[in-house]
Amino acid sequence: MGNENREQWGSKIGFVLAASGSAIGLGNIWRFPYLTGMNGGAAFVFVYLLIVLFIGFTVMLAELVIGRASQRGAVGAFKVLSKNPLWQLTGWAGVVCGGVILSYYGVVAGWSIKYAIASFGDLMSVAEAGGAGDYFGAFITNTTQVVIYQVIFMIMTIYVVAGGIGGGIERACKFMMPALFAILIILIVRAVTLPGAEKGIEFYLNPDFSKITGTTLLVALGQAFFSLSLGMGAMITYGSYLKRNDNIVTSSFYVVSMDTLIAFLAGFAIFPAVFAMGVQPGAGPGLTFITLPGVFARMPAGVFFSCAFFVLLFFAAFTSAISLLEAVAAYFKDELGWSRAKASWIMGAAITALGVPSAMSLGGTPELFGMGFMDAMEYLSDKILMPLGAIFIVLFAGWMMADKIEKEITSDGQYTFGLYNVWVWLARVVAPTAIAIIFVNGIWG
Ligand code: PHE
Repeated sequence: MGNENREQWGSKIGFVLAASGSAIGLGNIWRFPYLTGMNGGAAFVFVYLLIVLFIGFTVMLAELVIGRASQRGAVGAFKVLSKNPLWQLTGWAGVVCGGVILSYYGVVAGWSIKYAIASFGDLMSVAEAGGAGDYFGAFITNTTQVVIYQVIFMIMTIYVVAGGIGGGIERACKFMMPALFAILIILIVRAVTLPGAEKGIEFYLNPDFSKITGTTLLVALGQAFFSLSLGMGAMITYGSYLKRNDNIVTSSFYVVSMDTLIAFLAGFAIFPAVFAMGVQPGAGPGLTFITLPGVFARMPAGVFFSCAFFVLLFFAAFTSAISLLEAVAAYFKDELGWSRAKASWIMGAAITALGVPSAMSLGGTPELFGMGFMDAMEYLSDKILMPLGAIFIVLFAGWMMADKIEKEITSDGQYTFGLYNVWVWLARVVAPTAIAIIFVNGIWG
């Protein structure tokens, strides 16, 4: 397969934006706050930040290096870089993981469309009267509605991926990220000035370390991979569209920092409001959708801000979903020679179908492995496939590419990477060991 014709990112900033677009999504604004609320608040935030710093960054750089060095998607990368076919299992697991995540991701992303529209309807008045929880409950148990929004979201995602990377994705991200940032800042200002907000700030920032358990660590680890789009090959795939003279160290740094900043800000907007309005911090997956409408209802031009926020959440989810489908479709395109359009539509349709039982499980059934179907999909992806994938990815970059890795990272010495030695040992020993311990301890501990 000739690489001369491989699509590439339009510019350096284009890549950073697209990779941030992959990273920043529901993971930051929906999942991070609700997991923080369920897992002890500030102590969880603290553990999360440590994991991002030592493990997240290490894996991010490893994935980008593997992608760029091979110029292939997750499976092909290992095929090109190693003679041992067993490594390709890592890529395979990643492709499966991408499909599993996208199946329920599309469901939750559909909620943002519903809420953007509902901002103009009765959402504000219901939330003002304290009914946001019931409103959310009634919506997610209406399976037909949930599936309709899921399908709309998935069709849009497939359409973009079928059209190819480049222009579209990059342009959407350029506008979305600054807008999201601005609206989060406005939300924070409103949330922290609500009466009773101090308790939320305390919950979010003052850690009680007795709340950290083996499960907490695994949840934080899985969330770090989920939020940074790691451990399943999405960043390998995105890295494969990078040019040889891009600086992947600074790119990794920007992407990891921006993703973490947005998650942190989202929590900062949500927890003060949670306590000010008497919502339970451990309320679960509905937390963002239950809390924020109440904040908007207490703001001037609340309808406008509410709609703007959910539209941005939709965009954030959209750019992430695109990368998920891209990671899956790249396999069928690169390795089986399918056209981009065929790979996108066929796999996209299959993944949408897999999402339907997740949508239904919000109403109680079906179950799988003794939990709701959607919970089972989440468990499989972020507590099993991503940690395992990440272990093999860092081991591969650290040991299997040992003779050429420094050259790859620094683009043949074009850039300097002062912490190279630290990174290499993080990748070879510290990160895989830490992930393995957290994994074993979290699953069986
Ligand atoms: N990082 C995305 C988010 O936070 C989800 C995602 C996971 C995207 C894995 C790609 C790969 O919403």
